[in-house]
Amino acid sequence: MMKRVLPAVLLLLVLAACSPTETPRSISIIPQPSCVDVDEGQFILNKNTRIYLDEDTPELRRIAGFLNEKLAAAAGFTLAFTDNGMAENIIGLRNAGLPDEAYELMATPRQIFIDYGTGAGAFYGLQTLFQLLPSAIFSTKKVSGVNWTVPCCRIDDAPRFAYRGMHLDVCLHFFDMDFLKRYIDLMAMHKVNRFHWHLTEDQGWRLEIKKYPLLTEKGQWRKETVIGSLSSGIYDGKPHGGFYTQEEVRELVQYAAERYVTIIPEIEMPGHALAAIACYPELSCGLEDHYETATKWGIFKQVYCPKEETFAFLEDVMDEVFELFPSTLVHIGGDECPKASWKQCPHCQGLIKKLGLKDEFELQSWFIQRMEKYINSKGRQIIGWDEILQGGLAPNAKVMSWLGEEGGIKAAQQHHEVVMAPYPKYYLDYWQADPDSEPLAMGGPTTLRTMYEYNPVPEVLTPEERKYIIGVEGCVWTEYMPTPERVEYMAWPRMCAIAESGWTHSRKDWDAFTRRLEAHLARLDELKVGYCDAFYNPFIEFHKDTPYDCVVTISVDAPDAEIRYTLDGSEPTAASTLYTIPFAVNRQQVVRAAAFRDGKQIGKTKYKQM
Ligand code: ACM
Ligand code: ZN
Repeated sequence: MMKRVLPAVLLLLVLAACSPTETPRSISIIPQPSCVDVDEGQFILNKNTRIYLDEDTPELRRIAGFLNEKLAAAAGFTLAFTDNGMAENIIGLRNAGLPDEAYELMATPRQIFIDYGTGAGAFYGLQTLFQLLPSAIFSTKKVSGVNWTVPCCRIDDAPRFAYRGMHLDVCLHFFDMDFLKRYIDLMAMHKVNRFHWHLTEDQGWRLEIKKYPLLTEKGQWRKETVIGSLSSGIYDGKPHGGFYTQEEVRELVQYAAERYVTIIPEIEMPGHALAAIACYPELSCGLEDHYETATKWGIFKQVYCPKEETFAFLEDVMDEVFELFPSTLVHIGGDECPKASWKQCPHCQGLIKKLGLKDEFELQSWFIQRMEKYINSKGRQIIGWDEILQGGLAPNAKVMSWLGEEGGIKAAQQHHEVVMAPYPKYYLDYWQADPDSEPLAMGGPTTLRTMYEYNPVPEVLTPEERKYIIGVEGCVWTEYMPTPERVEYMAWPRMCAIAESGWTHSRKDWDAFTRRLEAHLARLDELKVGYCDAFYNPFIEFHKDTPYDCVVTISVDAPDAEIRYTLDGSEPTAASTLYTIPFAVNRQQVVRAAAFRDGKQIGKTKYKQM
């Protein structure tokens, strides 16, 4: 009898001690921790607060340094260290033997302790502490009149997935080192731990390779860039270039590692190789007289020819990549490799015959498997986009599933590890709001809510197969992001939703997420992140009914808001018609809508006509 009752009693105790989704408003952390319990009272951080390190190592000193860095900027003081872990008014970091990346944070009026097992856990506990402090802690300038208080609480936290990634394509547009550091800072703040650095493309090669200097001397450049959509046919006439020296790469790898971010370099093969081929035409099938770095977006038929010369080149490049990047995982691209050149190339056709392959898809698979063998022989593992499944998956490859979920499902069923990065749900280059009033993007819209609600573990997988989903990644392709400001606009706050899907175990709760996000936006404001503010604006959608009518739906992400609208040409006010259910309009009518809270408008007025 006892045996049967005990587990239920224990479960009740656990539930009573921990409320995974119902976090009080005073605590708004993104990504949501596993367990948050709030107590009465607060800890007051002041000049007399001391930092206590249970393990006084350079690593822990460095982690504590991040606290002092923030305090120095925002509060104008830093904290001294103490070796008395029993003292009052201390913030302590203690090794409690927790699993990697896990932490527990206990805040009482007397002390704050962050328990960890690894540096990553201590670092993540500190990120949570920053989000327990007033948002002014993220200010880069001194703010006066702030009470630096932390609500008393107990937080137990550990990640759902080991791989929590954010991608950045630096080829379609180049971004400088300062921006990359800021990008990594924002990732780390959200407990995102993999930076997928897309370094080579048809439109530019961005990584210095000592053995092949032309790759950056020449391959970094394209002579001009298409304006508008890829098929506009209009070009800006301005050369675009940029690359990272090996010294810069080492610096960034170190910078990221100090923030518990692993950089995963991507060297594309066999497709998206035109910039390299423009420098070294002998790597191609040799069907053309002239090769030039691409000046518009798309998929190009000039791909690497699978000959010995090409493998020698790619192995040399990989050798330098291994020197620069300690990551076990290396991305070899593999996506969008047209087979037109291989079909015409006598060498490729001869190779298909000689190896007894069925077709060009099997040739691609052979190409990837050959590179995998080399990369594995150096103690590294490959990950590639879905298309590496074509013609058979290399034996130890991991798959980054971008073509919807299908590739990810197939790979997991074959017991290969998978990172879910599906287009369009995790593609941050897609519109996030009404395309009518947004800057040019790839497609969509993929709203914040769509991103938040996406479940990265496909239901069709068995419990055993689900274990092969090792994580998630948000993709930032920069066709239409020529500036750092545009990247941040497209990435945030949607990346908050992906970060939470990667970190948080509990069931999704959109309303709770929006409440926490609203508080979190104040932190991004302090950091001057120019995120998209569609969160506060009504999204008016027209659903074509007849050639003369549309059914209208209106939604808003901001919590506790009501939508008011007009159809008579007047501006919406708090007294205008309240939106409750969809309605129909004709061609003449303009829908004007705004969101209100407590009688005050909270975002922009939006307009839409058929
Ligand atoms: C991709 O978007 N081509 C991976
Ligand atoms: Zn060929």
